[in-house]
Amino acid sequence: MCGIAGITRRRAGVLSDLLKALKNLEYRGYDSAGVAISLGSRLLVRKGVGTIDQVLGGVSLEDGRMGIGHTRWATHGGVSVENAHPHTSCDGRIALVHNGTLDGFERLREELRARGHVFKSDTDTEVIVHLVEEGIEEGLDPISSLSRALSELGGSYAVAMISADSDSIFVARYKSPLVIGIGNGENYCASDVAALLHLTREFVFLEDGELAEISPEGIRIWRMVGGKLESVNRGAERVEWVPQQMEKGGYEHFMMKEIFEQPHILRKLAETVEYYVKFSEGLRSALKDGWLSIVAAGTSLHAGMIGKYYLSRVSGLRSEVVIASEFPEWSHHLGKGDVVLAVSQSGETADVLEAIRIARDRGARVFSIVNVPGSTLTRLSEDYVFIQAGPEIGVAATKTFTAQVAVLYIIASLMSDSDSGVRLMRDLEVVSEEILGSMEGLSEEARNVAKLIRMSKHAFFLGRGINYPTALEGALKLKEISYIHAEGYAAGEYKHGPLALIEEGVPVIAVIPTEEALVNKIIYNLMEVRARGAFTITVQPPEVSLPSDREIRVRVRDELTSPIAYAVPLQLIAYHTAVELGRNPDKPRNLAKSVTVE
Ligand code: F6R
Repeated sequence: MCGIAGITRRRAGVLSDLLKALKNLEYRGYDSAGVAISLGSRLLVRKGVGTIDQVLGGVSLEDGRMGIGHTRWATHGGVSVENAHPHTSCDGRIALVHNGTLDGFERLREELRARGHVFKSDTDTEVIVHLVEEGIEEGLDPISSLSRALSELGGSYAVAMISADSDSIFVARYKSPLVIGIGNGENYCASDVAALLHLTREFVFLEDGELAEISPEGIRIWRMVGGKLESVNRGAERVEWVPQQMEKGGYEHFMMKEIFEQPHILRKLAETVEYYVKFSEGLRSALKDGWLSIVAAGTSLHAGMIGKYYLSRVSGLRSEVVIASEFPEWSHHLGKGDVVLAVSQSGETADVLEAIRIARDRGARVFSIVNVPGSTLTRLSEDYVFIQAGPEIGVAATKTFTAQVAVLYIIASLMSDSDSGVRLMRDLEVVSEEILGSMEGLSEEARNVAKLIRMSKHAFFLGRGINYPTALEGALKLKEISYIHAEGYAAGEYKHGPLALIEEGVPVIAVIPTEEALVNKIIYNLMEVRARGAFTITVQPPEVSLPSDREIRVRVRDELTSPIAYAVPLQLIAYHTAVELGRNPDKPRNLAKSVTVE
């Protein structure tokens, strides 16, 4: 889970743009960092332990026309200067950065050592650069040498390589993301489009198994077929995202900015309901009599669970939700005629990608709901739609959750009634306005709740029906950024065991339904936990009166859109609790945004 970037240009001076690209990728990992700059006849490498700013900020370095860089999240080899990328060949004339994990590198490392290569790190990556060095010594050109080196290794990779003898960056990808950015007299590469938005909005997307040479004048792409390189023609695509979306815009944290963006995203979705018609029709006709499996991880999984509710209640369709990492073991029944609907913000989550590769191998058709343009999931799906949430930088998913839920609502509605567009537009506009009008007040109330729960060791979230996944999401948000142990439960299930965990003062946050029959049930659940000493906080419609210690009143339009409205105060509770505890909500410990390892 690392980020890589590269720039090659006619004029000198790549460092500041390269560092900006790497900073945009820090959400992928930030335990060490480094760059290699081509100074014409030699390469300059600077790397160290820490964030980009800690390692490279304020350091005066010679600048050049070409450079590559890396922000690391350790997988093979501990966090150390030696293990930070770029890695270099014995003669120091080739430097390489890598995102992914390689199989079978230990044997090759021993063979290379026996042939006199000196290894400076414990990483799998360093093997590639020594293999390339051998190829070049044998007279191969850089791209053939890189291709031969990679064909000797299994696993996943996105690599960018420079040499002191060329103005080009050589790149390759397999099961790890890599995009090529197109400039004027300069070209770029990076792990995702967001990294390069300060430089371009034109991108060429590589497929798995492809390699490219990126020079200031242009790009050339090849595909490895049966050990040979075949040339590939591919045009550039323009992305909608803009560089301002990569800034905090006056907020203290990206997470807060992204929470506040939600009503605007919902309005955009309302205005573009038509965009989802073709996809919904395609999904409906692909389905026929087969199974529909929704596959996702983490927050996207919770959105997927709400999607299942929509499909059942709005479209009358049967579906199942499968945790992406469990999919291989729980999908033996899937085959031809079945459909997998993958939901993923990044479109790069390794568990999700592996699940859909298996689904495809079993003959199922794959559709997906994604946020990041050009991501691997879009390349592997028969059809896909974007949730149009813009880049999400905070590691904890917020705006992409509500956008996923809204898009699933749109799709389920269109699948059952292709004329529901106008109603959907009105629904989403109302939800957007209600959130917009209450945002500041909700934030204030959430801050007060945060002060009350910040010293708790445990917290429980209860929900029913469509808001059972909302409760799971509330708990996930709180635990991942505040490090308070939090669990979400279906309110009715709580009495079947977890109730034993209630003791004096434990916070129980209940997400209250809008439908009367369900409200009555959850009142009973609330009384149960209160009787045992729980401190109850209800996130609820304004008009309902409940036995609770603290209420956050949320303007909810109806049961179907309530997860969107309720997600906001739950996100805010998590945010303020993390801030009260002095944690950085944008970069929770041990977590990276894009989980590209299984
Ligand atoms: C939690 C969070 C993660 C992701 C999960 C899946 O706040 O962000 O749980 O939801 O890693 O990521 P995507 O949606 O990119 O597949």
